[in-house]
Amino acid sequence: MFIPQEVEKILFTEQEIKQRVKEMGAQLTEDYKGRNPLFLCVLKGAAPFFTDLIREMEIEVQIEFIRASSYIGTESTGDVRLSITEFPDIKGRDVVVVEDIVDTARTMSLLKKYLLDMSPASVKVASFLDKPSRRVVEDFRADYVGYSIEDHFVVGYGLDCDQRFRNLPYIGIFKT
Ligand code: XMP
Ligand code: MG
Repeated sequence: MFIPQEVEKILFTEQEIKQRVKEMGAQLTEDYKGRNPLFLCVLKGAAPFFTDLIREMEIEVQIEFIRASSYIGTESTGDVRLSITEFPDIKGRDVVVVEDIVDTARTMSLLKKYLLDMSPASVKVASFLDKPSRRVVEDFRADYVGYSIEDHFVVGYGLDCDQRFRNLPYIGIFKT
């Protein structure tokens, strides 16, 4: 297995991730039965989780992509950028935002506000990881969380450090 020297420890193995995504898919399937939700992937980090999660959905769903960034290296800049070119019509739709990790929650709270302005039926957030100890937007909660973790900088399964390590099939603690 490829373990770069920058990875200090494996936090979640490929098998553990697969199992947890399966469980999240089962929960979302149950909650969204008969509602044809729109799953919105927050690029780039959420891409692996998103493609796994939608394939665990045992109902009809539609997919869209959006891009957001706020990090340089391992530091959150607090300056969240959303790049939205062609945005789907979400009026009256049930939207599930799929994210890799909620950290300060600046990104998700900004995106959620932006989406709620478009009169959807609902907006929920499914994040594979959550770092509650890092919150700046204190009242923000993701609706579906794979794992809550301590304040480690993590890479793999879509998560990067300056665009590196997104392809690792596991989630590892980055040596800082
Ligand atoms: P906020 O702070 O707005 O940021 O909740 C969420 C985004 O920050 C990135 N992020 C990380 N990326 N390892 C990463 O590779 C981490 O430990 C980490 N913590 C936050 C990520 O892009 C997320 O979407
Ligand atoms: Mg991200």
